Amino acid sequence: MPKKINKIGVLTSGGDAPGMNAAVRAVVRACAFHKVECVGIFQGYQGLIDDNFKAMNARSVNNIINKGGTILKSARCLEFRTPEGRKTAHENLLKSNIDALVVIGGDGSFTGAMIFQKEFSFPVIGIPGTIDNDIYGTRYTLGFDTALNTVVEAIDKIRDTASSHNRLFFVEVMGRDAGHIALNAGIGAGAEEILIPEENMGLDRLLESLKRSEKSGKSSSIVVVAEGDKTGKNVFEIASYIEQNLPYYEVRVSVMGHMQRGGAPSCFDRVLATRMGVHAVESILDGKSNVMVGIIDEEMTLCPLENAIKGKSKINNKLIRVSEI
Ligand code: F6P
Repeated sequence: MPKKINKIGVLTSGGDAPGMNAAVRAVVRACAFHKVECVGIFQGYQGLIDDNFKAMNARSVNNIINKGGTILKSARCLEFRTPEGRKTAHENLLKSNIDALVVIGGDGSFTGAMIFQKEFSFPVIGIPGTIDNDIYGTRYTLGFDTALNTVVEAIDKIRDTASSHNRLFFVEVMGRDAGHIALNAGIGAGAEEILIPEENMGLDRLLESLKRSEKSGKSSSIVVVAEGDKTGKNVFEIASYIEQNLPYYEVRVSVMGHMQRGGAPSCFDRVLATRMGVHAVESILDGKSNVMVGIIDEEMTLCPLENAIKGKSKINNKLIRVSEI
């Protein structure tokens, strides 16, 4: 018989993402609804090691559904990668009578969660929170939709100045290993070309394409580049190669950076976070562990953490074709 769950801990880990607060709120309130105690753990796994815990009730999460970032703070914790760090974390959880853990984060955070679960048979459930949307087992991760809207809004503004000056802009967006942000925001913002890690477009093909559009009368252009793009060059190197070979345009580079991770979550992310938070708590109470909640075809799902980490989130080839057209 699995141990009865009386107290659940929740933490946010890795890169923050809009919607994390809405997920924390949902976890805390689902606990209150099911009459289970809830404890917030601050600064991700570092807080587990440092015993940085705070009891939370329904009122602790007032007015956070609309807030970007995470009130629990986040960290990428090296100490949790060591057996000693995890042992201390486990001791602290036992000391506070915490029976299960909800980890809101990305694949790095889930790797830690999985190892911890195996070592101590401690129930853990993951909620995918990363703007990159690069987790297998869910159609959407928390923060992806908001980040897309942020990027599109920014590129719209860049377009105004690009067209006023007949300029070619290279806009770098986040996505270390995945081109979901670049592809979707690129289409949404009407980019001329989109460079993603999943496909190697090649610099010459990019140059030819930009030459063709220049010949067709295009006076300004936007190229969206994912930070993990496959050309092997960074956005500045790509821009300077094009500038040398296509003198018609004045070239400028804009790196979106961390502004993509901030801001109020979109309604989509708030609803997603709320559904995921409730599903996580109810799954724990149902005896589930070592899984991640996800959404597929509008339904809440569970996927083994191992698959979430090792599986690849697929880029939508139909979207690539649409972007080419
Ligand atoms: O959260 C994922 C991500 O946004 C990646 O796209 C990006 O490469 C990375 O985080 C940046 O991380 P940091 O904030 O640690 O610089």
